[in-house]
Amino acid sequence: MPKILIAYSTVDGHTLRICSRLRDVLERAGHSVTLTEISESANVDAPAFDKIVVGASIRYGRHREEVFEFVQIHRSTLERKPNAFFSVNVVARKPGKDTPESNPYVQRFRRKTRWMPTELGVFAGKIDYPKYALIDRYMIRFIMWLTKGPTDLRTSVDFTDWAQVDAFAHRISLM
Ligand SMILES: Cc1cc2nc3c(=O)[nH]c(=O)nc-3n(C[C@H](O)[C@H](O)[C@H](O)COP(=O)(O)O)c2cc1C
Repeated sequence: MPKILIAYSTVDGHTLRICSRLRDVLERAGHSVTLTEISESANVDAPAFDKIVVGASIRYGRHREEVFEFVQIHRSTLERKPNAFFSVNVVARKPGKDTPESNPYVQRFRRKTRWMPTELGVFAGKIDYPKYALIDRYMIRFIMWLTKGPTDLRTSVDFTDWAQVDAFAHRISLM
């Protein structure tokens, strides 16, 4: 049974939700899946896995530094095994920014790391105004206003296309 490590970086838990969905699909396809939060991954035995997947969300235009550190630390292991990266951001809800090739955050990540994953993915995330702290709530609302997204502070919208997540899991199972 192929062993897959999914290492993720999240603030509000949506990337973890996507990882859990990937795990469900991959387990049904006969894989054994371990999820690990990157911030808690110091002791993870990456070489013990057959495939490695890294997933991370965007906040204020950036993937967190821990994601770059993880890729740097595990670089040689990553390059010896089938591997994948996906980003979660709300820019990806827009047609024309919804593929790894057209999404600015994925492209910036690739330029910065020079890592060439076997599979790349990008998923639109979630906006959950009631959950955010005051400053975040108004900052993301301003970003939404600029990009013609929802601005009602009572809104909670999941932009993720879950069929796309399932398709990505399928590609991981084949790589
Ligand atoms: C404070 C804040 C800032 C954000 N900044 C951006 C951003 O600059 N660009 C973007 O596309 N999405 C941005 N997002 C949207 C997140 O990427 C989206 O909510 C995602 O689902 C968060 O995933 P997580 O819960 O795993 O952290 C932001 C969200 C919040 C709450």
